Amino acid sequence: MSYSFKLLGRFDIIFVVIVASQVLIIMSSSTINAQLSRSFYASTCPLLVPIVRGGMRQAIRNNEPRMAASILRLFFHDCFVNGCDGSILLDDTATFTGEQNAFPNRNSVRGMEVIDDIKARVERVCSNTVSCADILALAAREGVVLLGGPSWVVPLGRRDSTTASQSDANRDLPGPRSDLATLISQFGNKNLSATDMTALSGAHTLGLSQCVNFRSRIYNETNIDSAFAATRQANCPFSGGDTNLAPFDGSQNSFDNNYFRQLVNKRGLLHSDQELFNGKSQDSLVFAYSRRPFAFFRDFASAMVKMGNLSPLTGTNGQIRKSCGVVNS
Ligand code: HEM
Ligand SMILES: *[C@@H]1O[C@H](CO)[C@@H](O)[C@H](O)[C@H]1NC(C)=O
Ligand SMILES: *[C@@H]1O[C@H](CO)[C@@H](O)[C@H](O)[C@H]1NC(C)=O
Repeated sequence: MSYSFKLLGRFDIIFVVIVASQVLIIMSSSTINAQLSRSFYASTCPLLVPIVRGGMRQAIRNNEPRMAASILRLFFHDCFVNGCDGSILLDDTATFTGEQNAFPNRNSVRGMEVIDDIKARVERVCSNTVSCADILALAAREGVVLLGGPSWVVPLGRRDSTTASQSDANRDLPGPRSDLATLISQFGNKNLSATDMTALSGAHTLGLSQCVNFRSRIYNETNIDSAFAATRQANCPFSGGDTNLAPFDGSQNSFDNNYFRQLVNKRGLLHSDQELFNGKSQDSLVFAYSRRPFAFFRDFASAMVKMGNLSPLTGTNGQIRKSCGVVNS
Protein backbone atom coordinates (compact mmCIF):
# COMPACT_ATOMS: atom_id res chain seq x y z
CA MET A 1 0.00 0.00 0.00
CA SER A 2 1.38 3.38 -0.98
CA TYR A 3 -0.44 5.42 1.65
CA SER A 4 0.03 5.31 5.35
CA PHE A 5 -2.58 3.91 7.74
CA LYS A 6 -3.07 7.22 9.47
CA LEU A 7 -4.71 8.53 6.27
CA LEU A 8 -7.36 5.85 6.57
CA GLY A 9 -10.57 6.61 8.44
CA ARG A 10 -11.93 4.30 11.08
CA PHE A 11 -14.29 2.60 8.66
CA ASP A 12 -11.59 2.05 6.07
CA ILE A 13 -9.56 0.26 8.69
CA ILE A 14 -12.55 -1.83 9.68
CA PHE A 15 -13.05 -2.61 6.00
CA VAL A 16 -9.42 -3.63 5.55
CA VAL A 17 -9.66 -5.85 8.61
CA ILE A 18 -12.87 -7.46 7.32
CA VAL A 19 -11.36 -8.11 3.88
CA ALA A 20 -8.21 -9.50 5.45
CA SER A 21 -10.20 -11.79 7.73
CA GLN A 22 -12.30 -13.05 4.79
CA VAL A 23 -9.11 -13.90 2.94
CA LEU A 24 -7.89 -15.77 6.01
CA ILE A 25 -11.19 -17.61 6.34
CA ILE A 26 -11.05 -18.67 2.68
CA MET A 27 -7.42 -19.75 3.03
CA SER A 28 -8.00 -21.70 6.21
CA SER A 29 -11.07 -23.51 4.90
CA SER A 30 -9.22 -24.52 1.77
CA THR A 31 -6.41 -25.97 3.84
CA ILE A 32 -8.91 -27.94 5.92
CA ASN A 33 -10.11 -29.49 2.71
CA ALA A 34 -8.56 -28.71 -0.60
CA GLN A 35 -10.95 -30.90 -2.54
CA LEU A 36 -14.30 -29.27 -1.83
CA SER A 37 -15.02 -26.14 -3.80
CA ARG A 38 -17.86 -23.66 -4.00
CA SER A 39 -17.98 -23.90 -7.80
CA PHE A 40 -17.97 -27.70 -7.98
CA TYR A 41 -21.28 -27.91 -9.91
CA ALA A 42 -21.03 -24.52 -11.66
CA SER A 43 -20.94 -26.07 -15.10
CA THR A 44 -22.52 -29.48 -14.44
CA CYS A 45 -25.58 -28.29 -12.48
CA PRO A 46 -25.84 -24.51 -12.51
CA LEU A 47 -29.43 -24.52 -11.20
CA LEU A 48 -28.60 -26.64 -8.15
CA VAL A 49 -28.85 -23.90 -5.53
CA PRO A 50 -32.19 -22.48 -6.75
CA ILE A 51 -33.62 -26.01 -6.93
CA VAL A 52 -32.60 -26.78 -3.33
CA ARG A 53 -33.89 -23.40 -2.19
CA GLY A 54 -37.23 -24.01 -3.93
CA GLY A 55 -37.52 -27.46 -2.37
CA MET A 56 -36.86 -26.11 1.12
CA ARG A 57 -39.25 -23.20 0.62
CA GLN A 58 -41.98 -25.62 -0.40
CA ALA A 59 -41.27 -28.02 2.46
CA ILE A 60 -41.48 -25.20 4.97
CA ARG A 61 -44.67 -23.86 3.45
CA ASN A 62 -46.32 -27.30 3.07
CA ASN A 63 -45.38 -28.98 6.28
CA GLU A 64 -44.09 -26.45 8.77
CA PRO A 65 -41.14 -24.25 9.56
CA ARG A 66 -39.91 -27.06 11.79
CA MET A 67 -38.66 -28.80 8.67
CA ALA A 68 -35.76 -26.33 8.52
CA ALA A 69 -34.80 -27.46 12.03
CA SER A 70 -35.13 -31.13 11.19
CA ILE A 71 -32.93 -30.80 8.09
CA LEU A 72 -30.31 -28.86 10.04
CA ARG A 73 -30.17 -31.61 12.64
CA LEU A 74 -30.03 -34.27 9.93
CA PHE A 75 -26.94 -32.58 8.51
CA PHE A 76 -25.28 -32.47 11.96
CA HIS A 77 -26.04 -36.14 12.52
CA ASP A 78 -24.66 -36.96 9.06
CA CYS A 79 -21.39 -35.06 9.53
CA PHE A 80 -20.64 -36.37 13.03
CA VAL A 81 -20.71 -40.00 11.97
CA ASN A 82 -17.75 -40.65 9.67
CA GLY A 83 -18.10 -37.31 7.94
CA CYS A 84 -20.66 -35.58 5.73
CA ASP A 85 -21.27 -38.48 3.38
CA GLY A 86 -25.05 -38.88 3.35
CA SER A 87 -24.78 -42.01 5.49
CA ILE A 88 -27.70 -41.03 7.71
CA LEU A 89 -30.01 -40.99 4.70
CA LEU A 90 -29.61 -44.73 4.08
CA ASP A 91 -32.73 -46.61 5.16
CA ASP A 92 -32.55 -49.87 7.08
CA THR A 93 -33.58 -52.97 5.15
CA ALA A 94 -33.72 -56.68 5.95
CA THR A 95 -30.05 -56.95 5.00
CA PHE A 96 -28.73 -53.49 5.82
CA THR A 97 -28.47 -51.75 9.19
CA GLY A 98 -27.86 -48.02 8.89
CA GLU A 99 -27.79 -45.11 11.32
CA GLN A 100 -31.44 -44.12 11.46
CA ASN A 101 -32.15 -46.46 14.35
CA ALA A 102 -29.14 -45.51 16.46
CA PHE A 103 -30.37 -44.17 19.84
CA PRO A 104 -29.89 -40.46 19.08
CA ASN A 105 -31.76 -40.89 15.77
CA ARG A 106 -34.47 -43.43 16.42
CA ASN A 107 -38.00 -41.95 16.27
CA SER A 108 -36.32 -38.59 16.25
CA VAL A 109 -34.48 -37.63 13.05
CA ARG A 110 -36.86 -36.51 10.37
CA GLY A 111 -36.89 -34.82 6.98
CA MET A 112 -35.40 -37.64 4.90
CA GLU A 113 -38.38 -37.45 2.52
CA VAL A 114 -37.67 -33.75 1.91
CA ILE A 115 -34.12 -34.59 0.80
CA ASP A 116 -35.53 -37.39 -1.38
CA ASP A 117 -37.92 -34.91 -2.98
CA ILE A 118 -35.19 -32.34 -3.65
CA LYS A 119 -32.93 -35.08 -5.01
CA ALA A 120 -35.67 -36.13 -7.46
CA ARG A 121 -35.96 -32.53 -8.68
CA VAL A 122 -32.20 -32.28 -9.08
CA GLU A 123 -32.05 -35.59 -10.97
CA ARG A 124 -34.59 -34.29 -13.51
CA VAL A 125 -32.29 -31.41 -14.41
CA CYS A 126 -28.81 -32.88 -13.90
CA SER A 127 -28.91 -36.64 -13.53
CA ASN A 128 -26.19 -38.69 -11.83
CA THR A 129 -24.28 -35.58 -10.91
CA VAL A 130 -25.08 -34.21 -7.47
CA SER A 131 -24.55 -36.20 -4.27
CA CYS A 132 -27.15 -36.51 -1.54
CA ALA A 133 -24.49 -35.34 0.92
CA ASP A 134 -24.14 -32.04 -0.96
CA ILE A 135 -27.91 -31.61 -1.27
CA LEU A 136 -28.20 -32.04 2.51
CA ALA A 137 -25.42 -29.50 3.14
CA LEU A 138 -27.16 -26.94 0.91
CA ALA A 139 -30.63 -27.69 2.27
CA ALA A 140 -29.43 -27.11 5.84
CA ARG A 141 -28.15 -23.67 4.90
CA GLU A 142 -31.27 -22.76 2.91
CA GLY A 143 -33.50 -23.68 5.84
CA VAL A 144 -31.51 -21.47 8.22
CA VAL A 145 -31.62 -18.57 5.76
CA LEU A 146 -35.37 -18.98 5.15
CA LEU A 147 -36.01 -18.66 8.90
CA GLY A 148 -33.96 -15.48 9.18
CA GLY A 149 -30.51 -16.82 10.06
CA PRO A 150 -27.10 -16.16 8.54
CA SER A 151 -25.92 -17.41 5.18
CA TRP A 152 -22.56 -18.97 4.31
CA VAL A 153 -20.80 -20.42 1.31
CA VAL A 154 -21.15 -24.21 1.16
CA PRO A 155 -18.07 -25.88 -0.32
CA LEU A 156 -19.27 -28.73 -2.57
CA GLY A 157 -18.00 -31.94 -4.11
CA ARG A 158 -18.89 -34.47 -1.41
CA ARG A 159 -19.78 -37.96 -2.57
CA ASP A 160 -22.16 -40.45 -0.97
CA SER A 161 -21.12 -43.36 1.20
CA THR A 162 -21.90 -46.96 0.42
CA THR A 163 -21.92 -47.80 4.12
CA ALA A 164 -23.27 -46.53 7.40
CA SER A 165 -22.52 -47.37 11.02
CA GLN A 166 -25.11 -47.60 13.74
CA SER A 167 -22.43 -48.20 16.39
CA ASP A 168 -20.42 -45.15 15.31
CA ALA A 169 -23.62 -43.07 15.48
CA ASN A 170 -24.20 -44.29 19.04
CA ARG A 171 -20.63 -43.45 19.95
CA ASP A 172 -20.16 -40.06 18.27
CA LEU A 173 -23.49 -38.24 18.58
CA PRO A 174 -23.86 -36.26 21.80
CA GLY A 175 -26.66 -37.08 24.22
CA PRO A 176 -28.98 -34.67 26.07
CA ARG A 177 -27.64 -35.62 29.50
CA SER A 178 -24.01 -34.85 28.64
CA ASP A 179 -21.98 -32.52 30.81
CA LEU A 180 -19.85 -29.70 29.42
CA ALA A 181 -16.59 -31.66 29.49
CA THR A 182 -18.17 -34.47 27.47
CA LEU A 183 -19.62 -32.05 24.92
CA ILE A 184 -16.28 -30.30 24.49
CA SER A 185 -14.51 -33.60 24.06
CA GLN A 186 -17.05 -35.04 21.61
CA PHE A 187 -16.78 -31.93 19.41
CA GLY A 188 -13.02 -31.93 19.93
CA ASN A 189 -12.95 -35.44 18.49
CA LYS A 190 -14.24 -33.80 15.31
CA ASN A 191 -11.65 -31.03 15.49
CA LEU A 192 -14.33 -28.51 16.47
CA SER A 193 -13.46 -26.08 19.25
CA ALA A 194 -15.49 -25.30 22.36
CA THR A 195 -16.50 -22.05 20.64
CA ASP A 196 -17.69 -24.01 17.59
CA MET A 197 -19.62 -26.32 19.90
CA THR A 198 -21.35 -23.48 21.71
CA ALA A 199 -22.15 -21.60 18.50
CA LEU A 200 -23.48 -24.76 16.84
CA SER A 201 -25.65 -25.52 19.86
CA GLY A 202 -27.41 -22.26 18.95
CA ALA A 203 -29.14 -24.40 16.30
CA HIS A 204 -31.52 -25.15 19.17
CA THR A 205 -33.01 -21.74 18.46
CA LEU A 206 -35.07 -23.84 16.03
CA GLY A 207 -37.15 -26.94 16.51
CA LEU A 208 -38.56 -29.16 19.19
CA SER A 209 -37.54 -31.81 21.68
CA GLN A 210 -39.44 -34.79 23.02
CA CYS A 211 -40.30 -34.91 26.71
CA VAL A 212 -38.16 -38.00 27.32
CA ASN A 213 -35.06 -35.93 26.57
CA PHE A 214 -35.73 -33.18 29.12
CA ARG A 215 -37.89 -34.80 31.82
CA SER A 216 -35.14 -35.27 34.38
CA ARG A 217 -34.07 -31.66 33.89
CA ILE A 218 -37.49 -30.11 34.50
CA TYR A 219 -38.32 -32.33 37.49
CA ASN A 220 -34.99 -32.80 39.21
CA GLU A 221 -32.59 -30.00 38.45
CA THR A 222 -32.16 -26.89 40.55
CA ASN A 223 -30.43 -24.52 38.13
CA ILE A 224 -33.72 -24.01 36.29
CA ASP A 225 -36.14 -21.09 36.27
CA SER A 226 -39.19 -22.33 38.19
CA ALA A 227 -41.76 -20.72 35.90
CA PHE A 228 -40.04 -22.28 32.91
CA ALA A 229 -39.97 -25.71 34.59
CA ALA A 230 -43.67 -25.43 35.45
CA THR A 231 -44.61 -24.52 31.87
CA ARG A 232 -42.68 -27.45 30.45
CA GLN A 233 -44.03 -29.85 33.10
CA ALA A 234 -47.57 -29.04 31.97
CA ASN A 235 -46.98 -30.94 28.74
CA CYS A 236 -44.35 -33.40 29.98
CA PRO A 237 -45.74 -35.49 32.83
CA PHE A 238 -43.55 -37.18 35.43
CA SER A 239 -44.34 -40.46 33.73
CA GLY A 240 -45.81 -41.10 30.29
CA GLY A 241 -46.01 -38.63 27.41
CA ASP A 242 -42.45 -39.41 26.36
CA THR A 243 -43.01 -38.18 22.80
CA ASN A 244 -44.77 -34.94 23.73
CA LEU A 245 -43.01 -32.03 22.08
CA ALA A 246 -41.76 -28.72 23.42
CA PRO A 247 -39.74 -25.93 21.79
CA PHE A 248 -36.20 -25.20 22.96
CA ASP A 249 -36.86 -21.47 22.86
CA GLY A 250 -39.88 -19.21 22.65
CA SER A 251 -39.34 -18.35 18.98
CA GLN A 252 -38.65 -21.75 17.50
CA ASN A 253 -39.59 -20.76 13.97
CA SER A 254 -37.16 -17.93 13.78
CA PHE A 255 -33.40 -18.25 13.74
CA ASP A 256 -32.27 -15.73 16.36
CA ASN A 257 -30.19 -15.56 19.56
CA ASN A 258 -33.12 -16.19 21.89
CA TYR A 259 -31.69 -19.62 22.78
CA PHE A 260 -28.72 -17.90 24.46
CA ARG A 261 -30.91 -15.39 26.28
CA GLN A 262 -32.83 -18.34 27.67
CA LEU A 263 -29.66 -20.06 28.86
CA VAL A 264 -28.65 -16.89 30.74
CA ASN A 265 -32.07 -17.01 32.43
CA LYS A 266 -31.75 -20.72 33.38
CA ARG A 267 -34.29 -21.66 30.76
CA GLY A 268 -32.24 -24.21 28.87
CA LEU A 269 -34.45 -27.17 27.91
CA LEU A 270 -31.94 -30.00 27.85
CA HIS A 271 -29.40 -30.67 30.56
CA SER A 272 -26.75 -30.32 27.82
CA ASP A 273 -28.11 -26.89 26.86
CA GLN A 274 -27.84 -25.49 30.38
CA GLU A 275 -24.33 -26.93 30.73
CA LEU A 276 -23.22 -24.13 28.39
CA PHE A 277 -24.19 -21.58 31.05
CA ASN A 278 -23.69 -23.14 34.44
CA GLY A 279 -20.64 -21.49 35.94
CA LYS A 280 -18.07 -23.03 33.62
CA SER A 281 -15.94 -22.13 30.62
CA GLN A 282 -18.66 -21.23 28.10
CA ASP A 283 -20.56 -18.74 30.29
CA SER A 284 -18.91 -15.61 28.89
CA LEU A 285 -19.43 -16.70 25.29
CA VAL A 286 -23.09 -17.57 25.91
CA PHE A 287 -23.52 -14.19 27.56
CA ALA A 288 -21.88 -12.46 24.57
CA TYR A 289 -24.16 -14.30 22.13
CA SER A 290 -27.18 -13.36 24.25
CA ARG A 291 -26.29 -9.69 23.72
CA ARG A 292 -24.84 -9.74 20.23
CA PRO A 293 -26.89 -11.73 17.72
CA PHE A 294 -24.47 -10.99 14.90
CA ALA A 295 -21.53 -12.39 16.82
CA PHE A 296 -23.55 -15.60 17.14
CA PHE A 297 -24.49 -15.54 13.44
CA ARG A 298 -20.86 -15.05 12.41
CA ASP A 299 -19.54 -17.88 14.61
CA PHE A 300 -22.41 -20.19 13.69
CA ALA A 301 -21.80 -19.72 9.96
CA SER A 302 -18.10 -20.33 10.33
CA ALA A 303 -18.64 -23.44 12.47
CA MET A 304 -21.18 -24.81 9.97
CA VAL A 305 -18.54 -24.59 7.22
CA LYS A 306 -16.05 -26.40 9.46
CA MET A 307 -18.56 -29.08 10.38
CA GLY A 308 -19.46 -29.45 6.70
CA ASN A 309 -15.82 -30.14 5.88
CA LEU A 310 -15.66 -33.21 8.11
CA SER A 311 -13.97 -36.05 6.21
CA PRO A 312 -15.93 -35.93 2.96
CA LEU A 313 -15.63 -38.62 0.33
CA THR A 314 -14.21 -36.99 -2.80
CA GLY A 315 -12.76 -37.85 -6.19
CA THR A 316 -13.61 -41.43 -7.04
CA ASN A 317 -14.42 -42.48 -3.48
CA GLY A 318 -18.01 -43.35 -2.68
CA GLN A 319 -20.68 -42.76 -5.31
CA ILE A 320 -23.41 -40.42 -6.49
CA ARG A 321 -26.51 -42.17 -5.23
CA LYS A 322 -29.49 -42.22 -7.56
CA SER A 323 -31.87 -42.32 -4.64
CA CYS A 324 -30.69 -41.02 -1.27
CA GLY A 325 -32.18 -43.81 0.84
CA VAL A 326 -30.39 -46.68 -0.87
CA VAL A 327 -26.92 -47.52 -2.16
CA ASN A 328 -26.81 -47.87 -5.98
CA SER A 329 -27.27 -51.48 -7.07
C1 HEM B 1 -24.25 -30.04 21.70
C2 HEM B 1 -24.76 -31.24 21.67
C3 HEM B 1 -26.16 -31.53 21.23
C4 HEM B 1 -27.06 -32.32 21.86
C5 HEM B 1 -26.81 -33.10 23.15
C6 HEM B 1 -28.27 -32.29 21.11
C7 HEM B 1 -29.41 -33.01 21.43
C8 HEM B 1 -30.64 -32.84 20.83
C9 HEM B 1 -31.85 -33.49 21.24
C10 HEM B 1 -31.99 -34.51 22.36
C11 HEM B 1 -32.84 -33.03 20.44
C12 HEM B 1 -34.32 -33.42 20.51
C13 HEM B 1 -34.57 -34.64 19.66
C14 HEM B 1 -35.93 -35.25 19.91
O1 HEM B 1 -36.46 -35.10 21.00
O2 HEM B 1 -36.45 -35.93 18.98
C15 HEM B 1 -32.27 -32.10 19.52
C16 HEM B 1 -32.97 -31.42 18.55
C17 HEM B 1 -32.38 -30.58 17.64
N1 HEM B 1 -31.02 -30.41 17.46
FE1 HEM B 1 -29.58 -30.88 18.77
N2 HEM B 1 -28.11 -31.49 20.03
C18 HEM B 1 -26.84 -31.01 20.04
C19 HEM B 1 -26.25 -30.20 19.08
C20 HEM B 1 -26.87 -29.80 17.92
C21 HEM B 1 -26.21 -29.22 16.78
C22 HEM B 1 -24.69 -29.01 16.68
C23 HEM B 1 -27.16 -28.96 15.86
C24 HEM B 1 -27.01 -28.38 14.47
C25 HEM B 1 -26.01 -27.60 14.08
C26 HEM B 1 -28.42 -29.35 16.44
C27 HEM B 1 -29.64 -29.16 15.85
C28 HEM B 1 -30.85 -29.55 16.41
C29 HEM B 1 -32.14 -29.13 15.90
C30 HEM B 1 -32.37 -28.10 14.80
C31 HEM B 1 -33.11 -29.79 16.67
C32 HEM B 1 -34.64 -29.74 16.49
C33 HEM B 1 -35.01 -30.79 15.47
C34 HEM B 1 -36.48 -30.84 15.11
O3 HEM B 1 -37.29 -30.07 15.61
O4 HEM B 1 -36.81 -31.74 14.28
N3 HEM B 1 -28.20 -29.89 17.66
N4 HEM B 1 -30.93 -32.01 19.76
C1 LIG C 1 -8.57 -33.90 13.08
O1 LIG C 1 -7.30 -33.40 12.76
C2 LIG C 1 -6.28 -34.41 12.80
C3 LIG C 1 -4.95 -33.74 12.59
O2 LIG C 1 -4.96 -32.94 11.44
C4 LIG C 1 -6.59 -35.48 11.74
O3 LIG C 1 -5.63 -36.50 11.78
C5 LIG C 1 -7.96 -36.07 12.02
O4 LIG C 1 -8.31 -36.98 11.01
C6 LIG C 1 -9.01 -34.97 12.10
N1 LIG C 1 -10.27 -35.56 12.53
C7 LIG C 1 -11.39 -35.40 11.84
C8 LIG C 1 -12.60 -36.08 12.38
O5 LIG C 1 -11.47 -34.73 10.83
C1 LIG D 1 -35.53 -37.59 39.96
O1 LIG D 1 -34.64 -38.07 40.96
C2 LIG D 1 -35.23 -39.07 41.79
C3 LIG D 1 -34.23 -39.37 42.90
O2 LIG D 1 -32.93 -39.52 42.38
C4 LIG D 1 -35.56 -40.30 40.95
O3 LIG D 1 -36.16 -41.30 41.73
C5 LIG D 1 -36.55 -39.87 39.86
O4 LIG D 1 -36.80 -40.96 39.00
C6 LIG D 1 -35.99 -38.72 39.07
N1 LIG D 1 -37.03 -38.25 38.19
C7 LIG D 1 -36.83 -38.02 36.92
C8 LIG D 1 -38.03 -37.56 36.14
O5 LIG D 1 -35.75 -38.15 36.39
